Amino acid sequence: MVEFSTARINPVARRTDCLVLGVYDRRELTPSAQRADEAAGGVLGQVLADGDLSPAGGSTALVHRPPGLPAKRVVLVRLGARAGLDDRAFRRAARSAARAVAGTGSRGAADLLAEAEVGGGGGDEAWRVRTVAEAYGDAVYRFGEGKSEKDAASGPSLRRVAIHSAGGRPDARAGARRAVAEAAAIDAGKRLARDLGNRPGNVCTPSHLAECAAALAEELEAVSTEVLEEERMRELGMGALLAVARGSREPPKLIVVEYAGGAADEAPVVLVGKGVTFDSGGISIKPAAAMDEMKFDMCGAASVLGAVRAAAELGLPLNVVSVVPAVENLPGGRACKPGDVVTSLSGQTIEILNTDAEGRLILCDAISYAERYDPDTVIDVATLTGACIIALGHVASGLFTNCRELGDALRAAAARSGDSCWELPVWPEYEEALKSNFADVANVGGRPAGSVTAAVFLSRFARERRWAHLDIAGTAWESGKNKGATGRPVPLLVQFLIDRAGR
Ligand code: BES
Ligand code: MN
Ligand code: ZN
Repeated sequence: MVEFSTARINPVARRTDCLVLGVYDRRELTPSAQRADEAAGGVLGQVLADGDLSPAGGSTALVHRPPGLPAKRVVLVRLGARAGLDDRAFRRAARSAARAVAGTGSRGAADLLAEAEVGGGGGDEAWRVRTVAEAYGDAVYRFGEGKSEKDAASGPSLRRVAIHSAGGRPDARAGARRAVAEAAAIDAGKRLARDLGNRPGNVCTPSHLAECAAALAEELEAVSTEVLEEERMRELGMGALLAVARGSREPPKLIVVEYAGGAADEAPVVLVGKGVTFDSGGISIKPAAAMDEMKFDMCGAASVLGAVRAAAELGLPLNVVSVVPAVENLPGGRACKPGDVVTSLSGQTIEILNTDAEGRLILCDAISYAERYDPDTVIDVATLTGACIIALGHVASGLFTNCRELGDALRAAAARSGDSCWELPVWPEYEEALKSNFADVANVGGRPAGSVTAAVFLSRFARERRWAHLDIAGTAWESGKNKGATGRPVPLLVQFLIDRAGR
């Protein structure tokens, strides 16, 4: 991990392993790059003149031992045209700069990208400082647990990053310091979410999630954990959750993590996270291809634990409760079957037509359980439907809500954090698809609008609460050669909590 700090950085005097400077269009240097170029006798300008920095936004060039500068290296980053520099272009440049720095042997770096003015959606200095810091957190993250020790040690050597802020008035300095603290907390939350997501299904079981939640309470002030065992869930009547757990030898857990940062009588935000530690599909078994990726089916759970960790680290003045229904979905002699009818905690009966639509079965009981906290807001987070990947790809999470104001708040948080989401409807017309001849509701609604019918199913259990659902099937992890958990939507959730605490 990297440690972040912020200060007014003088590019011609800074002793650092790596100086990070921006370049606009063509040969237009940012002010600090210009000063560094003058001190270095024009070598930076020469890099551009020689065509070594591609015109594409986010491209980088490394200059080793620049003459006349105390820095060991300079990384030049293409920001793109100064006039059109928006939040997306800035974030992209910050991220590739961080990757370039992490690819060198630098132990420390001084990054001046935050001096650039950013138009478009929210580009104040605090935002720029935080965006730069978060980029370094991502660039150095490695998951080495499964590798031999030699491999595990081969990650980036970068440990400290100083991020430029112009300083000036005390409130500007305080803003930059807060930005760095937010970045560090979001980074810690994301690392927790990614580690849990990346851990294999034979390690990251429901019991493991429960242990990690307990460790959070040990470590963090104002955080406490409670774990409900199978027997208690049976007493309460969580027939939907327990139906999913039946096929596995791993005992299910209902994990509750509370962060009490607000007044005792203040209604909490409840974050519900899908914790299917492996989703084989159950009796409605999935095809073999890429089934390993169903170890990531607990990324919703991981993200709500990460969000609580970040809220606690920041000491946000509000109450947050994370509720994680954790199960493994396997076929077996006692597994639930298509056609089974179960009674949920809400009293509604559910016909399980497809055992692979298990997420909504555990979430509906967790959402009903959240009622006992008399929450102000309930947000569930789940790798719920493959259909969401078809709709939105790997760019935006699906957003569903029964409350306009909550939808606006989540969209604003997505824009500021860069952790995008896009809204899809939860209209009563879609309820038709979930009709059952044998129970109050069926757990699947056919292929059309699969993400919407899943959300509509959940909305029946949220009832009149202010509720939103984030479908992170396409955003929680990456496939292919960079296969791994992304930590999303921790940035979105934490931004939402920060905004809510500050209002
Ligand atoms: N965990 C999956 C959803 C999923 C699939 C996420 C692939 C990411 C990648 C979920 O439990 C599931 O299996 N959903 C089914 C629902 C269907 C049976 C109605 C799906 O999407 O196919
Ligand atoms: Mn499934
Ligand atoms: Zn699933």
